Amino acid sequence: MSTIPDDQLVRPGGSGWTSEHLLGLEDLSSEEITAILDQAAEFKACSLENNTKLDLLSGTVVANLFFEPSTRTRTSFSLAAKRLSADTIDFTASGSSLSKGETFIDTARNIEAMGASLVVMRHKSPGAPHLLARRVGAAVLNAGDGTHEHPTQALLDLFTIREKRGSFEGLTVTLVGDILHSRVARSNIWGLKKLGARVIVCGPSTLIPPRIEELGVEVSHRLDDVLAETDCINLLRIQFERQRGAFFPSIREYTHFFGMNSQRLKAARDDVMILAPGPINRGVELTPEVADGPHSVILDQVTNGLAVRMACLYLLHERKKTGVGQ
Ligand code: CP
Repeated sequence: MSTIPDDQLVRPGGSGWTSEHLLGLEDLSSEEITAILDQAAEFKACSLENNTKLDLLSGTVVANLFFEPSTRTRTSFSLAAKRLSADTIDFTASGSSLSKGETFIDTARNIEAMGASLVVMRHKSPGAPHLLARRVGAAVLNAGDGTHEHPTQALLDLFTIREKRGSFEGLTVTLVGDILHSRVARSNIWGLKKLGARVIVCGPSTLIPPRIEELGVEVSHRLDDVLAETDCINLLRIQFERQRGAFFPSIREYTHFFGMNSQRLKAARDDVMILAPGPINRGVELTPEVADGPHSVILDQVTNGLAVRMACLYLLHERKKTGVGQ
């Protein structure tokens, strides 16, 4: 156990962080996003790089409420809370009283009654964390709400890009694939645009939402056309479980036009960065040699996710304690 010196901590309020909940990047200012990334950088240096536990959330209960499957986000939030010395409640829908007809709001309020002051929630319905935030006193962190937003995924993507490239000015990031169903795409677009990056969304026309240009992005339907001008390629998973109907003729055809492979890597910039939120469909969005190759930062994203989630929990906890912005 270790504490980090006070002067190494980014101060809420003084750092631009004022939000009471973390519901989406649409709601955050560039200063708030930067405050999270800066705090995450501190935690990466102070805790992750030497496996040190910090005594910052001791006596605090963090509830992880996952009403939808997850590997990375759930385990990462759970470990982030433990690294900050919080107690954790890890709830998953299977085996719970939801099957007896309990609503997710009642489930959350019961867990809050056990002392949780930070509630992390993933739910299949867009807006579910926003509804919960109005019904509980705890700070709510959105861990993915349907096709709407996945703020901590975008924050860890931003952190990874900033760590490798220093800044977003002059950077082109291309989001490839199932933009229509992707909460990761929406959160990335908000975050990247606020921090000054150029964003291209690329995929079959059936998987690009109409009028998406109004968010300040450019649209391409040919990955080969944008490879040479892209610094970072984020390969989004085809969300088969959210698709109702056929959005492209076959997986083989999708992979032919939009899959990242060794040949496309040769046509890309020498220093192109390959990101993917995971889980990945190997051989669909990208080939194994790209996923595991030298341009891939996929596992760096996972490591950075821990620092980013520590930062989100800590800043919300401090915000609650000090009432900054109230
Ligand atoms: N990227 C992501 O959200 O992964 P999980 O669904 O495993 O949490």
